Amino acid sequence: MKIVLLGPPGSGKGTQAELICSKYNLPHISTGDIFRSNIANKTQLGLKVKQYIDSGSLVPDELTISIVKDRLSQDDCKNGFVLDGFPRVLNQAKQLDSFVKIDKAIMIDLSDDEIINRLSKRRMCKKCSNPTHLDWLVDGKCEKCGGEVYIRNDDSPETIKARLEKQKLPQDVIDFYVEKGLFVKINSLSTKQETFIEVDKILKSLVK
Ligand code: AP5
Ligand code: MG
Repeated sequence: MKIVLLGPPGSGKGTQAELICSKYNLPHISTGDIFRSNIANKTQLGLKVKQYIDSGSLVPDELTISIVKDRLSQDDCKNGFVLDGFPRVLNQAKQLDSFVKIDKAIMIDLSDDEIINRLSKRRMCKKCSNPTHLDWLVDGKCEKCGGEVYIRNDDSPETIKARLEKQKLPQDVIDFYVEKGLFVKINSLSTKQETFIEVDKILKSLVK
């Protein structure tokens, strides 16, 4: 099961990826998580990408594509993966297609107003990287693992606005997957479990 999750910032890609990966025992590959861990560890890559992420811009393809290619070539991806937040532009979609054939491109969609509402209350778990929500915390900690939570740097009101302006999923990426018969769109307006039921219907159709 080789899945890509597309969609605007904050639409619920990471949340659905976690649910898919735990049900189907797949690796969750999030380009955003890879960049954030490099920034936290002050690696060369982290130093290069920080300015783009903090300003709500896309990281250039030359830094992004090779990371995904390397990660997908690792053993744990042989039988499948969930790629969260990649591709975001047509060049990334074409490059990905040149090194792996995916089974489904699922767009997790949501209105800008609801995205702003959710991102302004998002909390991230330091321990398990779970994207969670202020209202879901248990005693101020991650409801999944009890870890400490933090607010992402790019979840400030100004950066959320910049991300929504600069990072709308381009139509040509959607068209690329529509033409291959791989594209499905799900709205994540309902609860995360209800949204997952819709996502899972698509996944079940892939399992032989
Ligand atoms: P990335 O980390 O991927 O950020 P993003 O695309 O902005 O998406 P988010 O992670 O903010 O949102 P999400 O869709 O995962 O939503 P989540 O599940 O957390 O990328 C960060 C940056 O890295 C980018 O800005 C860019 O600079 C760079 N980058 C990454 N990939 C790149 C690429 N391919 N090319 C170039 N640059 C790249 O949910 C959001 C909130 O809603 C959470 O609080 C969650 O708990 C809550 N929530 C989720 N579902 C529901 C629900 N059903 N009901 C209520 N609340 C919900
Ligand atoms: Mg995410």
